[in-house]
Amino acid sequence: MLENKVSKSSALLTILIITFFFMMQNLSGVLIFLLATMTPVLCCDWFRHYGHLSNKSMTLLRLMGTEFSNNSQPYFPYKFYSHIKNNTVESQLVFIRDSLELIEGLYLHNDLSSVAWDTDRTDRFLMTLERQREGISSCLSTERRADSRLRKYYRGLEKRLHTGGSSASWEMIRKVTDQHLHQLNLLVNGMKKH
Ligand SMILES: *[C@@H]1O[C@H](CO)[C@@H](O)[C@H](O)[C@H]1NC(C)=O
Ligand SMILES: *[C@@H]1O[C@H](CO)[C@@H](O)[C@H](O)[C@H]1NC(C)=O
Repeated sequence: MLENKVSKSSALLTILIITFFFMMQNLSGVLIFLLATMTPVLCCDWFRHYGHLSNKSMTLLRLMGTEFSNNSQPYFPYKFYSHIKNNTVESQLVFIRDSLELIEGLYLHNDLSSVAWDTDRTDRFLMTLERQREGISSCLSTERRADSRLRKYYRGLEKRLHTGGSSASWEMIRKVTDQHLHQLNLLVNGMKKH
């Protein structure tokens, strides 16, 4: 009789232990599931903010100076954008990040004293670009850099600033920047659809 009771309670204990074990396993399963789904959500958070930040940086750029003139620009490298559109997501992210960095470089590394821009707006514009760039960087774990032709193109723009250096050259840079930000935004919108 006593033996029967002992074996009954030990069976109950076994069932309890097994149940507990299963629950823990399920719990860790739930945790793993949560972590796995949260990581890409955190990473791709930049997607949600990019449109808003891009709108902000373009608005600040427009308000920084006078209205853009309607003079057509001599050259805009649309080919970079048509080429990158069909590339891998990683290449596109690298391209966007490096483009933003090179645009920031134009304003940070060159003498802005000849322009009559609102410096407060210029600072906020650069901070917004930085936030756009940092969002994308958080999604990238590669050491890759964009095609050297992109760098060469931006170096060409800097050269024109150094030889011109006047407020007219800066107006050209501001307008070209607007076109680039517009194209980058189109690229991001295209990525969202896929
Ligand atoms: C930013 O968004 C507002 C409201 O959606 C819009 O009216 C404005 O044209 C946008 N600005 C740019 C530069 O796209
Ligand atoms: C540019 O052209 C548009 C119409 O195409 C006009 O509304 C605008 O005033 C022009 N801007 C300048 C600065 O000439």
